[in-house]
Amino acid sequence: MLQYAMEHQELLESFKKVVVIDGKKILLTVLADQVYAILDQCSHLGASLSKGLSEQKSVTCKAHGAKFDLESGEVLEKAHIGFIKMPTKKTVTFKTKVENGKVYIDL
Ligand code: FES
Repeated sequence: MLQYAMEHQELLESFKKVVVIDGKKILLTVLADQVYAILDQCSHLGASLSKGLSEQKSVTCKAHGAKFDLESGEVLEKAHIGFIKMPTKKTVTFKTKVENGKVYIDL
């Protein structure tokens, strides 16, 4: 079900924003005019992904470097400390829709 998240212009100006909908913290980010929504909780140890780096349709967790595909939630790089890789699960993403200047998330 589509839920209103925020104004599109505000997201364009801030580039990324965390919203809370139905008790879920969701990171919204815009890259190359596409709006992505991903659970703002790293599947490794729960750090906020909003503090990480978003680029080229991915977000990298600042805590231990796990990298996730913003569209599918697939793990692109496992969490690691130095060269030691740690188990990292796929995370949750949501479809988004922009209509009449408003961003909606499909929950
Ligand atoms: S909490 Fe995100 S990589 Fe460890």
